[in-house]
Amino acid sequence: MAAVTKERLKSPRARLFVALDLPEQVREGIGAWGQEALADPGLRPVPAENLHITLAFLGHRPEKEVEAIGEAVRESAGPAPWIELLDPVQRPPRGRARLFALPVLSPGTESLQAGVEQRLVEGGFYEPEKRPFWPHVTLARVRPQARGSRRPAVIADPPGKLPEALSEAFFGVRLSLYRSVLLPSGAQYVPLAQVELPGAGRQ
Ligand code: 2AM
Repeated sequence: MAAVTKERLKSPRARLFVALDLPEQVREGIGAWGQEALADPGLRPVPAENLHITLAFLGHRPEKEVEAIGEAVRESAGPAPWIELLDPVQRPPRGRARLFALPVLSPGTESLQAGVEQRLVEGGFYEPEKRPFWPHVTLARVRPQARGSRRPAVIADPPGKLPEALSEAFFGVRLSLYRSVLLPSGAQYVPLAQVELPGAGRQ
C-alpha cells in the first residue's frame, strides 16, 4: 500500500509534550537579554513565548488520547516549585554546539516531573527516557552550517553569563500539555490542557 494511503488510515495524531511554564516576566527577561546574547547568525533563538521547561516529550499520540493525557497532567499538579536559572551551557558539551540552554536548579521541578512521568506511564501514554531528566530551558538551536547539512554551524559568539536579575529564584507557574505544530516559520505550541500550581504568585 502506498505510504500516503497508509498514513490516511491511521488515526489523526498530535505531537505532544508536557512543560512547566515560566512566569511571563522571566520569559520576557530572557527574551530581552537574548537579543544581544543570542545574536550570532548561526543561532535560531527560541521566541520568548515558547520558553519553558520540558517535563515529558510524548511524540506523536492519537488525538483521542488527548483528553486522558490532559487529565493525567492536571492530576500531577503540586506546589509551585522554586526555580533558579544557571548560566548558559552548550549541548553536546564538547565539539560543535547543537543547542544552548539554561540548566535549572529546582528540586521541586524534579518532583513534578517524576509525578507527571508516573501518571503518563500508568496511562500507557509515555515511555520514560533512558537518560536521567535534565531540567533546562532551551534558549537557541544551532542552524546547519550549510543548507541540507547535518553539521551545525560554528558559533563564534556564544551566549555569556546571565544578568543578575535573571539569576534570582522565582516560582514556576503551571503545568501545560502542548501540541507542537511544526510550521516553516518555526514551532507553534498550542496549549491543550493546563493547571495552575498553588503558590505560583509568590515572589
Ligand atoms: P528541549 O527544550 O530540550 O529542546 C517541544 O519540541 C519540546 O519538546 C522542546 O522543548 C524539546 O525539548 C522537547 N523535545 C522535542 N523533541 C524531543 C525529543 N525527540 N526527545 C525529547 N524531547 C524532545
